[in-house]
Amino acid sequence: MATNRTFTMIKPDAVAKNAIGGILKMINDAGFRIVAMKYTKLSTEQAGAFYEVHKERPFYGELVEYMTSGPIVAAILEKDNAVEDFRTLIGATNPAEAAEGTIRKIYATDISANAVHGSDSDENAEIEGNFHFAADEKH
Ligand code: RTP
Ligand code: MG
Repeated sequence: MATNRTFTMIKPDAVAKNAIGGILKMINDAGFRIVAMKYTKLSTEQAGAFYEVHKERPFYGELVEYMTSGPIVAAILEKDNAVEDFRTLIGATNPAEAAEGTIRKIYATDISANAVHGSDSDENAEIEGNFHFAADEKH
């Protein structure tokens, strides 16, 4: 059963490009409601824990360094079929392969600095949202 929430981060490259407004407009225009949102900067410890699943991958160190290189926007989003529809809205991990009109096609720099994160399952959406937000921060 699909839940109706996903978790996203607007990553440091997109924040540095002043793309927060453009990306949030695309998210709202696609029908997502914002449940929780914060502008923050991840510590090495936080980024390492968030991407723990990629610990053995060759790009892990680079990923943690990049995700701590500047501020991000973290948010929980709500919509029918949220996880799958948000992955469609953001496009492929590598922006060179992302479909026209997707957030990564428009705003990403490359496969590492790819503008946004989107949860890959309902289970991870729940875990990731709870990683960044307490129950009383969700509205
Ligand atoms: P995300 O988790 O950020 O939404 O991205 P994703 O599912 O599309 O991709 P995933 O495989 O989960 O990878 C997580 C993030 O690691 C960086 N990455 N770099 N240099 C590389 O080959 C490489 N591969 C992945 C990207 O920032 C990717 O979003
Ligand atoms: Mg992923």
